[in-house]
Amino acid sequence: MLELLNIKKKFGAVTALDRASFAMEKGEIVALLGANGSGKSTLVKILGGTVKKDAGTIKIDQKPVEIRSSAESRNLKIAVAYQELSLIPKMTVYENVMMGHFIKGKFGQVDERKNRSFVASLLEKYGADCGLDEYPKDLPSSTLSIIEIVKAVSWDPDILLLDEVTAALHHNEVEILFSNLRALSEKGVSIVMVTHRLGEIFNIASRAVILRNGESVADVDLKKTDINKIVYYMTGKIPEIVENPSDEKRSGEDAVLIVDNLTIGESVRNVSMRVNRGEIIGLGGLEGQGQSQFLRSIYGAIPLESGSITIAGRKVDYKSSADAVKDGIGFISGNRNRESIFNLRTIGENIFSAKMSMGRDFSPISNRMIIQQANQIVQEYDIKIGQINDPITSLSGGNQQKVVFGRWILVSPAILLLDDPTKGVDVSSRRELHNFLRKAADQGMTVLIVSSDNDELLEIANRIYVFYEGGIHCMLCGTDCTEEKLVSAMMGMTVKDSAK
Ligand SMILES: Nc1ncnc2c1ncn2[C@@H]1O[C@H](COP(=O)(O)OP(=O)(O)OP(=O)(O)O)[C@@H](O)[C@H]1O
Ligand SMILES: [Mg+2]
Repeated sequence: MLELLNIKKKFGAVTALDRASFAMEKGEIVALLGANGSGKSTLVKILGGTVKKDAGTIKIDQKPVEIRSSAESRNLKIAVAYQELSLIPKMTVYENVMMGHFIKGKFGQVDERKNRSFVASLLEKYGADCGLDEYPKDLPSSTLSIIEIVKAVSWDPDILLLDEVTAALHHNEVEILFSNLRALSEKGVSIVMVTHRLGEIFNIASRAVILRNGESVADVDLKKTDINKIVYYMTGKIPEIVENPSDEKRSGEDAVLIVDNLTIGESVRNVSMRVNRGEIIGLGGLEGQGQSQFLRSIYGAIPLESGSITIAGRKVDYKSSADAVKDGIGFISGNRNRESIFNLRTIGENIFSAKMSMGRDFSPISNRMIIQQANQIVQEYDIKIGQINDPITSLSGGNQQKVVFGRWILVSPAILLLDDPTKGVDVSSRRELHNFLRKAADQGMTVLIVSSDNDELLEIANRIYVFYEGGIHCMLCGTDCTEEKLVSAMMGMTVKDSAK
């Protein structure tokens, strides 16, 4: 029913799409895959009417169509949940969802009661934990993603495009979403899922179309393929075998971070842990169980209420994150728009910003030095850019996240705190970043990582503390680090319960 043929799109000198083709039937769920910067979002935006194609044909039910605006896209019954979200900060959740299509009463007036109950029921169905009158800034990123999906679904589309909507979602939220998507597909809605969590596509999609450098290079039946083959199509290279984290115990003498009975209001209660030099510690849990607040309190971004934090043998109580940075603590957030990216700055300045704020010496920083060091990071981590002086906003989502990573690599902190750092980062770059973390940990860097992606925690962490209702529910290490045990601990069950 939907067919794209040889779509092309350039942004200045950058080719985003070149001979991209894609087709799907009514009621199909198809995964659209590709490395960071391969053109997935551009393709989605062309269908959503927010980016204009340079060439190529789009057909719906065999008829060629032109999509020159989001209104035209909606008239064709296409709806999009965007990777960078399309929610307006000054509007409430309710207004954001209904904007542009409030349900009207008999006399053409907005029927407030009907509208509100329509939105409330959708939010409930998709498991969004928020009130109708809340504002986006007060909600966690997973809830915002769900609202973005609900907004798209509220248009009752025939074609639903979801651009990395699961990147911020937790295990339980993904399950709810997938069961809703299956129901939609049974009703005949065609769904395109863009995702970097390759594990999940096998649960939801039947087919995958893979883009490489803007070109569609493969169309595979997911029943007959595996992740390694997909990575091969994405990159053109056979993926390397990833080493598992070494189980070797890091010396117990060398505790770099000791947290004692840390409490922050209702969100973190009596959390204690001891982390040794060179350990990679995973902090797991469903959304909002306290793990993110815990991480931010170590960094001085949230004040502690009681308890203590000892770093390298010294009790600390940072008044601001700037103090933590000076002590060699780095912080990487997956919330690019809110916490990590200086939107008005160039790629180079964004990479250099952490080093600048270390402020150890007062030697002048030359533009040449910024460019030289930033270029080195761009090369080393294969960040797909036009020019180093281009605005950061010209990069694809995953490449922006690599910039945030590169920023901290430049300063090699003693303790690196990560909050969902590989959100939106493609699978091969993710493996590179994990390898970097392992190497850095072997050389003595201590890593604490919060992730909404269980596979990531199991892949990278030496030990995993599972948060539940603000406390540590249990600690998994060694052979206890399995998907099943992690998931049941996240739900607040004991590991033994899950074996029943
Ligand atoms: N508005 C823009 N201005 C300049 N270049 C852009 C713009 N939008 C996208 N690009 C470039 O086009 C290419 C494709 O970007 P796109 O966002 O479609 O990638 P993607 O496959 O969605 O990547 P990711 O997985 O990182 O989200 C990238 O090289 C990107 O830098
Ligand atoms: Mg994208």
